[in-house]
Amino acid sequence: MRYDIGIIGLGVMGSNFAKNLINCNVSISAFDVDVMKAETAFKDYNSDQIRINESVQELCESLKKPRKILLIIPAGKIVDDVLGDLRKYLSAKDIIVDMGNSSHLDTIAREEKLSNQGLRYLGCGFSGGELGALNGPSLMLSGDYDAYEKISAYLKKAAAKDKFGNPCIGYIGKSGAGHFVKLVHNGIEYAELQLISEIYGFLKNKLNMNNVEVSEVFKKVSKGILESYLLRLASIILEFKDPEFPENFLLNRIKGEVQQKGTGFMISLESIRLKAVAPSIITSVLVRFMSNEGNVSRYRNQSEVNANEKMLNESEFVEKLRICLVMLKHLIYQQGFDLIKKSNEHYNWNISINNLINVWKKGSILESEFLYEIDKYDLDKNNILDNENVSSRIREMSLALKEVVKTLTEHEAYCPLISTTYQYWLSMTDENNSLNIIQGMRDAFGSHTFELEDREGAYHTNWLESEGEKVLIKIK
Ligand code: 6PG
Repeated sequence: MRYDIGIIGLGVMGSNFAKNLINCNVSISAFDVDVMKAETAFKDYNSDQIRINESVQELCESLKKPRKILLIIPAGKIVDDVLGDLRKYLSAKDIIVDMGNSSHLDTIAREEKLSNQGLRYLGCGFSGGELGALNGPSLMLSGDYDAYEKISAYLKKAAAKDKFGNPCIGYIGKSGAGHFVKLVHNGIEYAELQLISEIYGFLKNKLNMNNVEVSEVFKKVSKGILESYLLRLASIILEFKDPEFPENFLLNRIKGEVQQKGTGFMISLESIRLKAVAPSIITSVLVRFMSNEGNVSRYRNQSEVNANEKMLNESEFVEKLRICLVMLKHLIYQQGFDLIKKSNEHYNWNISINNLINVWKKGSILESEFLYEIDKYDLDKNNILDNENVSSRIREMSLALKEVVKTLTEHEAYCPLISTTYQYWLSMTDENNSLNIIQGMRDAFGSHTFELEDREGAYHTNWLESEGEKVLIKIK
């Protein structure tokens, strides 16, 4: 028998995705370096459903042609090692899909190399974690379109379905586009996680709420446009009892030092390279670094505000918070979409934001009602902040944001994401841009020139010479 799909890597993600495909009547031939573990994981399946191979060569020989092989292995050198091995046994037109969190730059380079051999290499952003892999992930593919069509006939069956039954899988664009949008997804994921942690920190440390009370606030705000997987998850984590000390909450015993596998770091570097303004995403990455340096609570006793010292009307605050969160969410997504627009220019891609958010609607970590709401607007042509939901209420929403920032600041609450995002908003409202003084000073100390509001060209003047006539010298 020849099998439909090959899978290399049967860790939790790979095994769960294999099981998902088998449940959709797709036959799998798989390889993992730990053959014994792989055989044990699939001992209840029959050989028509899955074959566990002892080598990559055996795997390649067992597949229908053109062969379709999914790599579900960690990003990095291991991908190159596996590709080196695969090249020996594959032939022209065969398809390889990298489903790990690889950098789009690596994917572009690998595709180019493999295409010399006639192999078709697709990058696939794969979101949804272990449960998503089993029950339906969100899949963002890119590369050769014909190869996409061939593989997506199978992957569609296993992908999550949105509330209208559409599979959350999409062709994002050429080469590395799929992995790039997964990085953007993760950048937004980092920012949303950071936002939740700041609200939690304020409610817990400054308003003295216990876990259940904080969870109740999250449940109250997680309605309508703010209904989301991450807020639901936050409530579950908050209320989860410690298996070793059932009278306590497990969360209260978890260290506040946040790790990262590298996607947030990659998208932050990329945002700077593309000159895309993404301060909320970058801040969320920096906060994780700081948490590992011990900086976050080094001066813990210096706060002059004690918990509950500044009373506030809780229900009024929660309502304000809800409006503020809608505003923050738009501002965070705006940064993600700006990254995509800049990448379209830089890499000559044609990624459609509306197409992409359809893929994120279910199965992904960003799953939320918000995505259905913003999808009502043409986001490829328009700015997300110009959608009617926001533009008609922009004043009310920005005031709520300001009030929340004010309240948090008065309480000396640590809120780097919220305050950075607020400043990002202010950068768009600053009528009397003050940055002209920087241009003046740069020209004064380094003759770097400046442009004028009322005239074309680059100018310089002799700011510092005490003698002689002052003139504007046109340099360009
Ligand atoms: C997803 C997640 C997934 C993973 C992150 C974790 O969409 O399923 O983004 O890919 O959870 O990579 O990233 P950090 O370890 O960097 O937080």
